[in-house]
Amino acid sequence: MDITVLFKLTYGLYVVGTFDGERPVGCIINTCFQVTSQNPILAVSLNKNNYTLEAIRKTKRFSLSIIAEDSDPAVIGGFGYRSSRDCDKYEDFGYTTVEGAPIVNGKFAGRLILDAINFVDNETHYVVFARLVETVQGEGTPMTYDYFHRVIKGKAPKNAPTYVEEDTKPAEEKTSAEDVKKHRYQCIVCGHIVEAEGNLPADYTCPLCKAPKDRFERVME
Ligand SMILES: Cc1cc2nc3c(=O)[nH]c(=O)nc-3n(C[C@H](O)[C@H](O)[C@H](O)COP(=O)(O)O)c2cc1C
Repeated sequence: MDITVLFKLTYGLYVVGTFDGERPVGCIINTCFQVTSQNPILAVSLNKNNYTLEAIRKTKRFSLSIIAEDSDPAVIGGFGYRSSRDCDKYEDFGYTTVEGAPIVNGKFAGRLILDAINFVDNETHYVVFARLVETVQGEGTPMTYDYFHRVIKGKAPKNAPTYVEEDTKPAEEKTSAEDVKKHRYQCIVCGHIVEAEGNLPADYTCPLCKAPKDRFERVME
């Protein structure tokens, strides 16, 4: 089976936000679609390991912020590659509570507030069906998953339903006098680009997604 045909499916990119009873939690998803139009129901697919799913199963109410092409890309790094179990993802961005659900502050194409009504078990993921209870208009062109790959050069992590395993090349080791030249390195996890003289330091970690140095590839110019 040629799995690359799946790459032609289209998606948007969203921040899901909810409260775990005490604090705001959330994650990035690309899997959202509208199921019904009257009294709309939407569906999202959430990995069983994601803390956001655990919280939605308790509280039911959650927000969906529609990421725009010019939304702060740090939101994708901050919400998509680490768990709310271990950190406060809203610390750097702030949030506002709308109809009982946290929405991360910043520029987004729009916001939806939803109530989970049905959880359908699909092996590694639950598909959560949810009724729309409120909308907030935003600004900007909604970011597609394709734009995320092509322009931001981001990669989906293991918990994303669309994750595809691929070989990763380690950052080039250089030994010549060229080492002192400035080079650009890109994080293959979230797409963040950093400039450094010679190699990146051994203990370097991505400021966006915290990936270690071996997740960086040199950008050939
Ligand atoms: C581009 C992108 C798309 C993603 N899509 C999904 C998705 O559709 N469903 C999902 O469960 N996780 C998805 N993820 C992964 C979660 O955002 C990630 O596992 C997150 O760390 C979960 O955090 P939590 O434990 O705080 O819920 C995606 C991540 C990225 C960067």
